[in-house]
Amino acid sequence: MSDPVLAAQYEAYPYPARDPRDEKTRLITGSPSRLAEIDHYLFQGKLDLGRPFRALIAGGGTGDATVMLAQQLKDAGAAQAEVVYLDLSRASRAIAEARVAARGLTNVRFETGSLLALPGLGLGPFDYIDCCGVLHHLKDPDAGLAALAAALQSEGGLGVMVYAPFGRSGVYELQEALRSLGEGMALPERVSLTKRLLAGLPETNRLKRNPFLRDHRRSDAELVDLLLHPRDRAYSVPAFLALVQGVGLQLASFIEPLRYEPSSLTADPALRRRFAALDDATRAALAERLAGNQSRHIAYLSRRPDSVACIEGPESVPVLVELEADALANTVLKDLTVKGDFDGLPFRLPLPRLAPLILRQVDGQRSLGAIHAALQAKDPGLSWDDFLAAFRALLAALGGLNRLLLRNPPN
Ligand SMILES: C[S@@+](CC[C@H](N)C(=O)[O-])C[C@H]1O[C@@H](n2cnc3c(N)ncnc32)[C@H](O)[C@@H]1O
Repeated sequence: MSDPVLAAQYEAYPYPARDPRDEKTRLITGSPSRLAEIDHYLFQGKLDLGRPFRALIAGGGTGDATVMLAQQLKDAGAAQAEVVYLDLSRASRAIAEARVAARGLTNVRFETGSLLALPGLGLGPFDYIDCCGVLHHLKDPDAGLAALAAALQSEGGLGVMVYAPFGRSGVYELQEALRSLGEGMALPERVSLTKRLLAGLPETNRLKRNPFLRDHRRSDAELVDLLLHPRDRAYSVPAFLALVQGVGLQLASFIEPLRYEPSSLTADPALRRRFAALDDATRAALAERLAGNQSRHIAYLSRRPDSVACIEGPESVPVLVELEADALANTVLKDLTVKGDFDGLPFRLPLPRLAPLILRQVDGQRSLGAIHAALQAKDPGLSWDDFLAAFRALLAALGGLNRLLLRNPPN
């Protein structure tokens, strides 16, 4: 390990703070690395879990992605799937192992080491690699991503999270202030010092005025990670895309896709026309700059340009992500819109008239053909084309929120 300060931090403050006993009562889920997302964004919805599937969680920390993916693979009956956890921190690994044991999961293999050493570890190749909150802490993130890309199967893909600059406003000057203030002090003392400083920050301080970052209030581990980290950097959209392209990977999708569409930020028709004429990368960069609230980028990356699932025909299966179909149908029935907010940025998306009827049929198993047949039984005049147009509009809205995905029959 080339960075003893960073290693010592994660030994003393495993991240994020987790208690293995909580596995009895809840499963922590999120992006990247939900199984349905991996399938949709990286395998065209055609992932065949009857075949071997190998995933690496690189810098697995206290085990969030490892536990979620291993549990979802088990629940999906993926008997030949294996999740490999890799981290430098033995303290973090101990917590992750206890969480996996608490769930009785047997599809996880634990390794201690650096992702930078992957070529020599003989662990790969992998169909999928998760690297969440790690690359931005490395001395050479490009070398880190290159090591991960080299460990992928030719058709495999990655789910990553890196920090983004504008939503982290206030973090970096406070990090610098705390660095000079805590010079020569041990980490636990610096934690106490930081808490004192946070308690009395002036109203004008940019972190105090930043409503998007609350991590440091949850636990000491999160406080250390946000404010006392020896090294982190934030990537704007253009910087992130340069990192990705530099190692020969392609962006499959940002999560949530809608956050990267500037047209969602204005109703002005002239501006929307101007936005529509821009390429994907320029639009994403613009959305980030205009919204100004993104503290991280979550993205799926692939070697191939066509890894995202699309509607292939009546055999495609819509899948709702952690939404209950009936409850959602009842909610949208009132005014045919879906509402919410991204870190304080409200959205309100119109849905097609058929949305509630379609949503009631979505159970993750029924195909579009079967859903159309069920709707046609009540309305014999409903053509496939009209049904498909309504489903496309629904997918554009809920897909943009990463809430409606697709599965397709394996090749
Ligand atoms: C901020 S934590 C993120 C943990 C986890 N991925 C998550 O999102 O919950 C960063 C983790 O990366 C690990 N790490 C840092 N550099 C690493 C490297 N070169 N190889 C493997 N793990 C590393 C740290 O030990 C730490 O557990």
